[in-house]
Amino acid sequence: MVKKWWHDKVAYQIYPKSFYDSNGDGIGDIPGIISKLDYLRELGVDIIWLSPCYQSPLADQGYDISDYYSIDPRFGTMEDMERLLVEAQKRNMYILMDLVVNHCSDEHEWFRKACEDPEGKYGNFFYLRDKKDGELPTNWRSYFGGPVWEDLPGTNKQYLHVFHKKQPDLNWENPELREEVYKNINWWLDKGLSGFRIDAIINIKKALPLHSYAPDREDGLCSIHAMLQEARGIGEFLGEMRDRTFRKYDAFSVGEVFNEKPEEIPDFIGDNGYFSSMFDFNETIFGGSAKGWYDAKPITPDDYKRCCFESQAKVGDIGFLSNIIENHDEPRGVSRYIPEGDCFTESKKMLAALNFMLRGLPFIYQGQELGMENNHFSSIDEIDDISTHDEYRVALDAGLSPAEALEAVSKYSRDNARTPMQWSDEANAGFTTGTPWLNVNPNYTKINAASQINDTDSVWHFYKKLIALRKNPAYKQTIVYGSLEPAWEDRHNLMAYYRKGDKTLLVVGNYQREKQEITLPFSYSKVLLNNYKEVTEENGAIRLYGYQVLILEM
Ligand code: GLC
Ligand code: CA
Repeated sequence: MVKKWWHDKVAYQIYPKSFYDSNGDGIGDIPGIISKLDYLRELGVDIIWLSPCYQSPLADQGYDISDYYSIDPRFGTMEDMERLLVEAQKRNMYILMDLVVNHCSDEHEWFRKACEDPEGKYGNFFYLRDKKDGELPTNWRSYFGGPVWEDLPGTNKQYLHVFHKKQPDLNWENPELREEVYKNINWWLDKGLSGFRIDAIINIKKALPLHSYAPDREDGLCSIHAMLQEARGIGEFLGEMRDRTFRKYDAFSVGEVFNEKPEEIPDFIGDNGYFSSMFDFNETIFGGSAKGWYDAKPITPDDYKRCCFESQAKVGDIGFLSNIIENHDEPRGVSRYIPEGDCFTESKKMLAALNFMLRGLPFIYQGQELGMENNHFSSIDEIDDISTHDEYRVALDAGLSPAEALEAVSKYSRDNARTPMQWSDEANAGFTTGTPWLNVNPNYTKINAASQINDTDSVWHFYKKLIALRKNPAYKQTIVYGSLEPAWEDRHNLMAYYRKGDKTLLVVGNYQREKQEITLPFSYSKVLLNNYKEVTEENGAIRLYGYQVLILEM
């Protein structure tokens, strides 16, 4: 494997709108991020991924870009962005932006020009079809609900949007469009950006000619996945993009990829892959239902273990997965992966260690280092996220009562992760002096950065130790490049694995409240990390407390 600058790094995702508000308008911003760089440096973070802060109507919170070359005034100015790049570099930190090029905003100049002249140059930047009465060009259901076709204003045509109707899909079949994308990427890399997280990229290749599939719900529509499964040839686009952009800069790229086939992994993230890395979504996908969130099934500790090991085995040493517990599209990991009623400091630390020590690149989502939890929503009106509103409707249509529908979507709502970062126990969790755009989670008086930094037993300090361990020259080779071998794989509520490189480490977590014993096949020389004060041993066995996690050097 060719060694890369980013292999041994630790990454952190910032959702700018909810991170830190510097001017009291209730919206997090880039100056706010700059003022918190030392906080991140102190934790040990190297790479920062910023969710979109480009000019945008914020119909999908910035994932609908109306100008790829400017910063939305709500987040700051281009000078602020340039200052962020400089300030990050001073601290040996790297900034990634979000590359959202499956679609743009319907307020982008390209789309406006397409409306003015659908047969002209910009008409071909989108997927346009002639409008027929009572018939849609295809029966695909958009990710956010309803058909993917919408009337193109002022014309007799319709346009395709696999996400929201304010997010028209860009036509990657058109070389002129692709040139625009590469120009944009290179423009940012020239500015000193270190790379990109690449949004929704599996959607750029459509199965042509566009056609309908068997409906999978009563609405007569079908999931986009039916089409994606049939689409071939995305590699030509992705390879071209890599060669024309990232490769020339040795930039880091991490793809939001869901549906790669095992034999495609080398193409995606091998030595000469389209991307440096891609996220492991195996755990987040688990339990999903074609019917909607209301029908999803919860994940158990044994499922969680199986999902992690499956991905690890699939990728092996071909490349590097990016491992996550949560992101801005998911509920909080501690609320999801820890059984109900058991979400406390020790279990949060256990989950952190089990995920962080997997082979791959650890990504921390803002607030994860504090063990931030899901919010409690008492009404659908407290939720901003468009996708939650759609799922709420789907649940009502399926016959759930409003209270049941709210309960069901609350578990998966993207707004769980989007509540403001909890900095302190001051008003609004210290996030803003104004009115936050989304309510803070009321538990901020207990869970916040200020108190955790002062408490060496906190979740925050545990993350700091995990990061320090990954960077410790004595263990770095093993943790970064070593192989992963599951241990006691069939043992109920126990997740354990070896990391083998120039050292052998054992990571073991007792994924339950009850104690559990393990007998080591050979002895350990050192306890590198423990979320309890001691290791209890008796007759050669280790008795693990509830949710105890150990990292042992063997
Ligand atoms: C990705 C983003 C998500 C967004 C969608 C459309 O999945 O992570 O937040 O809604 O793409 O851009
Ligand atoms: Ca602000």
